[in-house]
Amino acid sequence: MIRLTFPGSAFPPLEVPRGHLLAEHLDGGNAPVLFGCRTGLCGTCAVVVEPAGALGEPSLDEFEVLELVADDVPSPRLACQLRAVDDAALTPCTRWRGGR
Ligand code: FES
Repeated sequence: MIRLTFPGSAFPPLEVPRGHLLAEHLDGGNAPVLFGCRTGLCGTCAVVVEPAGALGEPSLDEFEVLELVADDVPSPRLACQLRAVDDAALTPCTRWRGGR
């Protein structure tokens, strides 16, 4: 199992089977990450991943969306595109920037 944490939120750590899509496990009403399209197009789910690279590198398509919505944060990813491959902390980009 992969352990995911959500710094700055009251959401408890989440245990996800290796290889599963995170979005399948973050669809509750109070999930710490907001989703929109769930297809990698809207950028709503942009998160900072720590440690950087823990959940792999973005595809070219994901990278292009991240350039538009999260070019000012380190190691961003689109949560809807992530699979659980290693323990990581996820912080929504809006919270990382000081928003809510
Ligand atoms: S929910 Fe739209 S890019 Fe992830």
